[in-house]
Amino acid sequence: MNDAPCHSGLHNSFASEALPHVLVQGRNSPQKVPYGLYAEQLSGTAFTVPRHLNLSSWLYRIRPSVLQGEFREISFPTFLSAPFASGYTSPNPLRWDPMPKPPHNSDFIDSIFTMMGHGSIEMNQGAAIHLYYATLSMTDRYFYNADGDFLVVPQEGAMLIRSEFGDIHLQPGHIAVIPRGVKYQVMLIDARAKGYVLENYGSPFRLPELGVIGANGLAHPMDFTAPHAAYEDKTGDFQLIAKFQGRLWQSDIHYSPLDVVAWRGNLAPYQYDLHLFNTINTVSFDHPDPSIFTVLTSATCASGIANVDFVIFPSRWMVANDTFRPPYYHRNVMSEFMGLIYGQYDAKETGFLPGGASLHNRMVPHGPDADSYQKGVESALAPHYYTDTLAFMFESYHTWQLTDIAYHAPFRQQHYAECWQGLRKQFNIVETIKE
Ligand code: FE2
Repeated sequence: MNDAPCHSGLHNSFASEALPHVLVQGRNSPQKVPYGLYAEQLSGTAFTVPRHLNLSSWLYRIRPSVLQGEFREISFPTFLSAPFASGYTSPNPLRWDPMPKPPHNSDFIDSIFTMMGHGSIEMNQGAAIHLYYATLSMTDRYFYNADGDFLVVPQEGAMLIRSEFGDIHLQPGHIAVIPRGVKYQVMLIDARAKGYVLENYGSPFRLPELGVIGANGLAHPMDFTAPHAAYEDKTGDFQLIAKFQGRLWQSDIHYSPLDVVAWRGNLAPYQYDLHLFNTINTVSFDHPDPSIFTVLTSATCASGIANVDFVIFPSRWMVANDTFRPPYYHRNVMSEFMGLIYGQYDAKETGFLPGGASLHNRMVPHGPDADSYQKGVESALAPHYYTDTLAFMFESYHTWQLTDIAYHAPFRQQHYAECWQGLRKQFNIVETIKE
């Protein structure tokens, strides 16, 4: 199977200027850009992909990026990358409590703790899953990632992502996607910011096809917003951190790289409020497969095969007749990492905590724990609004390979599989025949 990227992003096109008349009608690269700015293109796809797949933007900035200086390698011991070794990956289901506060105060990038991943950065395939727990703002530091796009899923604490394209205010219940190459810094609004990151080495996230659902439903393009242009013209002693081919690099720079005065194009950071997701589910009986909850997908060239799907389980009505309403027991060729933003998940009402995580890799059986099963078979089937809950899944066709630090993390639960051990044999031919 050819896994090379062949699908692109959202394709909303934007234009924004922080000063009037920077953008010249009919010219992306005029001989002289107004205000003495430099024109610079940022491309997120090969130049020659079909027009409807092409992602690029023009940035009009105070200094071109070629002034960013020379990088030297630095160490980030918990920010790990492909290739991931398979030594800690087993057919056992795994679950983690929320990651505790790191021993030292850390900013967003410092605090990244890599849980698992797969694929190859060099080949633009695969992804990594990280946790973050920041207690400091990136006051004098900026970051860009040449290896992958960041899908940020905050679980606690609001933050301000200041990017070349402008500001994104991000809070739990919302997500942001920062394409590879975009420079930014993360400032805390609350005392701490915790959450999950999917680093996507593969094709850019896009909306899933709607098929027989039709034009409406799931996430709507109109609800994805890009930032307004905002620039700073500032000098000082700063660091630009780059992630390149799985390693971290630093350049000392003496100006802010967030100096883009105007931009236009269809490649930009964006955010989305998960509460705007138009959830589709049964109105008769049984469950659709969980793919019905897909917000964004990073496709491969094989039809219907995802590098990663980002899937949510939001508050929703449960109305199915004669149906076991919690998620059914299943084994799956896809590999499922789950996180919980708030509330409870209906297959695990205890043990799977907001900020925690679980992993059910390929063909690892899973489903409701014993308590949730009992509740599922006994509860009345009146319409019920399952509220104040937001769980999500990073689901991949490729098997998630654990990192050493995730496997040995003190916050990994040691006996997760015991949550099913209360499921007793209840096979009874005699009673069923009588009925
Ligand atoms: Fe599952």
